[in-house]
Amino acid sequence: MSVGVICAITQELAYVRTLLTHPRPRLVAHAQFTTGTLDGRDVVVVGSGMGKVNGAVIATVLADRFGCTTLLFSGVAGGLDPDLNIGDVVIADRVVQHDAGLVDDAQTHVYQAGHVPFINPTDRLGYRVHPELLKRVAARLDGYRMAPLSAAAGGNGRTPRIAYGTVLTGDQYVHSESVRHRLHREFNGRAVEMEGGAIAQVAESFGIPWLVIRGLSDLAGRDSRFDFLRFVEEVAETSAGILRHLLPVI
Ligand code: ADE
Repeated sequence: MSVGVICAITQELAYVRTLLTHPRPRLVAHAQFTTGTLDGRDVVVVGSGMGKVNGAVIATVLADRFGCTTLLFSGVAGGLDPDLNIGDVVIADRVVQHDAGLVDDAQTHVYQAGHVPFINPTDRLGYRVHPELLKRVAARLDGYRMAPLSAAAGGNGRTPRIAYGTVLTGDQYVHSESVRHRLHREFNGRAVEMEGGAIAQVAESFGIPWLVIRGLSDLAGRDSRFDFLRFVEEVAETSAGILRHLLPVI
């Protein structure tokens, strides 16, 4: 009954790895899967690499070969909601693959991944976290306080907050004010990243629960590439701290 813990990049994985006891690495597909215990819980920790296909491969191996009964993602994302700031954490209650859909001359009409409106129509858009799991998560995090971002990284002393909502996933690093505004407006997206929607899709196929935790390393606009590099390590550690705090209710 182990929990699969996925990070995409080394900066997200670094801190999680230090928490593991009795680590035993094993190479499968392109990735190193490390089995071990985290605060007494059996886990398999892995870095997937970026993007939906990498996320899907790793989620599949965790579910099918390692028999993981829950998949958790911990890492960073670009913030979309103007109410949120770098350092805040978004926990997805829904993930949507914002680059899937129907393309006509004018635009892409986002649609559920794996579906085309006139071939296999569906009313669904995205994947929802199991409501009971979300309830336990929210109860466990009630009153949880995070340290402000360090002054060294450019923090201003503000205490970060935890928000719940839609996280958007696409095979694109968003570095644009207009796209960021559109993604927030069209989907009420609170954060954008590159793996969560694929991991949720795989988890749903295997009938196992999943959760995506994302600290905001940037705001997906013009400065996002600079902010990302400045904040990624610290914010990824905040996200991993939340994952650790949640393990008892997962
Ligand atoms: N992960 C972190 N920042 C991101 C961004 N701006 N776009 C996509 N994924 C991200």
